[in-house]
Amino acid sequence: MKAKEELIAQVKKGTIPTHIAIIMDGNGRWAKQRGLSRIKGHQAGVKAVRKIVETSGNLGIKYLTIYAFSTENWRRPENEAKAVLTLIENTLMKEINNLAKNNVIVHFIGSQKGLKKSFIEKINKAYQKTKNNTGLNLIIAINYGGRNEIIETINNILSKQLNIITETEFSNYLYTSKFPDPDMVIRTSGEIRISNFLIWQAAYSELWFTKTLWPDFNSEEYMQAILDFQKRNRKFGGVK
Ligand code: FPP
Repeated sequence: MKAKEELIAQVKKGTIPTHIAIIMDGNGRWAKQRGLSRIKGHQAGVKAVRKIVETSGNLGIKYLTIYAFSTENWRRPENEAKAVLTLIENTLMKEINNLAKNNVIVHFIGSQKGLKKSFIEKINKAYQKTKNNTGLNLIIAINYGGRNEIIETINNILSKQLNIITETEFSNYLYTSKFPDPDMVIRTSGEIRISNFLIWQAAYSELWFTKTLWPDFNSEEYMQAILDFQKRNRKFGGVK
């Protein structure tokens, strides 16, 4: 793989995607390969998040969405689900000043149903603290599921008694109303599926998959993914 600086320069010559969304998969397998507990895998995953957030900021990417906890993740053993949420909460508390100082705006998308009140308060505070920044928008998907988002949106629209609605109007009611659709969705760990992530928003996203397990995903491979994106011909159903 090329030296990091060389890659940065090469990536910056091309079009930088406005919004990248990532399915961070493979923490459990990474831990298993090392004879470690699954939570150790998630802890290693946090280190990878840090690197990718930093690189995104350096490249001038405006939006980065990461899938931290899905509505389906509740199906995991209770102690693992709790441990992942606690890890997210602790990481957020530990990193928030650093994120604020680095001009990052921290947003959250997902359902509040089932989350602890104290957790919701913390994520609201993190947004309040960073909302006036102007750099990278880091969007953390917690208790997020695409189908659930669409159903919550439909119920919200029905409660307003609007019965005819356009695609744009519909988008304006989604959790992601303030963000552009992702240009690219990356998934690690060799699984080739979307798993209920941004299913409305990713309709025209370029998909990029790697066998690398999330804790091993680094800035160099991230930039290789962006270089591949820059070679793709995006037609949005039209001709070019
Ligand atoms: C998927 O790996 C990973 C998760 C469900 C959790 C991802 C969460 C983090 C990396 C922490 C994020 C932290 C912040 C601050 C946002 P898996 O357990 O499904 O792996 P496996 O498929 O190999 O079992």
